[in-house]
Amino acid sequence: MRNSNLKDRKINSLYVHIPFCEHICFYCDFVKVKKPEDPKVIEKYLDKLKNELSEYGDRLNDIQSIYIGGGTPSCLNLEQTIIMCEMLFKYSQKPNFEYSIELNPESVTKEKLEIYKKYNINRISMGVQSFDNDLLKKIGRIHDNSIAINAYKLIREVGFENVSIDLMYNLYDQTKESINVDLSYIKELKPDHISWYSLIMKEKSVWGRKNMKVPENDELFDEIVNEGLKEIGYTRYEISNYALGEKNKSYHNMTYWNNSIFAGVGIGATGFEQINGKYFLTRNEGNILNYKKDFEELSQEDYYFQIIMMGLRLVDGIDISIEINKDIYEFYKEKINQKINENLLELVNNNIKCTERGFNILNEILIDFL
Ligand SMILES: C[S@@+](CC[C@H](N)C(=O)[O-])C[C@H]1O[C@@H](n2cnc3c(N)ncnc32)[C@H](O)[C@@H]1O
Ligand code: SF4
Repeated sequence: MRNSNLKDRKINSLYVHIPFCEHICFYCDFVKVKKPEDPKVIEKYLDKLKNELSEYGDRLNDIQSIYIGGGTPSCLNLEQTIIMCEMLFKYSQKPNFEYSIELNPESVTKEKLEIYKKYNINRISMGVQSFDNDLLKKIGRIHDNSIAINAYKLIREVGFENVSIDLMYNLYDQTKESINVDLSYIKELKPDHISWYSLIMKEKSVWGRKNMKVPENDELFDEIVNEGLKEIGYTRYEISNYALGEKNKSYHNMTYWNNSIFAGVGIGATGFEQINGKYFLTRNEGNILNYKKDFEELSQEDYYFQIIMMGLRLVDGIDISIEINKDIYEFYKEKINQKINENLLELVNNNIKCTERGFNILNEILIDFL
């Protein structure tokens, strides 16, 4: 899609993918490989990342956040961790820069945390999934709740003031009691941010390959999760994301949903970029040491759909008073008004957003925008 404004929009955020994992969890189909025994493979991968970053040149100069995700970034050894942090350091030397890294509890160490801190990382996202030890085994995790709690305490001790925890619900054999136990740990630990995902059955995961389906629970876990977190003081700002206060919303995650421009480096990483006025979804395809960026050009309609699909995930929806979103409203006006009449969308203070009813059936709403 061509934009009449000839100057391309700047890249706001950068995602960096580290695809190595100590162990493969049964539900996961993210791009990852079992951590290779030969450290040289990881070093070559890091080298490739460095080249990819340099190909961007000064286009990354204005980014306001980095998110190192995986895979398991914390499974790198100290030397590899330093190489990774050194190559990203120069982008992070700005005020109010949000710089996150994803950790798995079993590979958190004081030494690694101190390296992250030294290189400006200021936000930790730790994948806990559940505090129920039986459940953790059943989903293929290699940590237990005491490892997660100790890792969390260590993260705080080293001085990280912005910590997020990932949890999951709708897992096999998960009960209301087990969710309530998770909520009681959250109440005690008080992470600044929580991502609490409903299980999505992915075809290429260990479970998906066995043709397993998302279990049908009698309980409405999403209600228990939402109500429980609200009671403890968290504000939901996206379908699966909750923050303790306004300042704890993840700037980086917001860039995926609020029509910002973002770049992704590393195998499997995706981006949304504007080049010579055209919009592209990018994805790095191939294998860990041999991948290249695939560019899918978006037509005008694809672009609008992308913005509506991502923006309606936010509780506050899409701000149509800002320049880049104005024509989206014009484009979808009729459909939006129809959904407003059906009490699925609402227009509040220049924001198009889902009503509570609409939020629960977002995928169905989106079909009508296709
Ligand atoms: C891809 S993982 C990477 C982070 C880290 N390796 C970990 O395991 O925590 C990011 C998060 O995605 C969530 N996730 C992964 N697979 C999922 C699935 N099939 N359904 C729902 N959430 C999933 C988990 O909560 C996980 O913490
Ligand atoms: S959930 Fe995390 S640790 Fe487990 S396989 Fe996926 S990326 Fe690796």
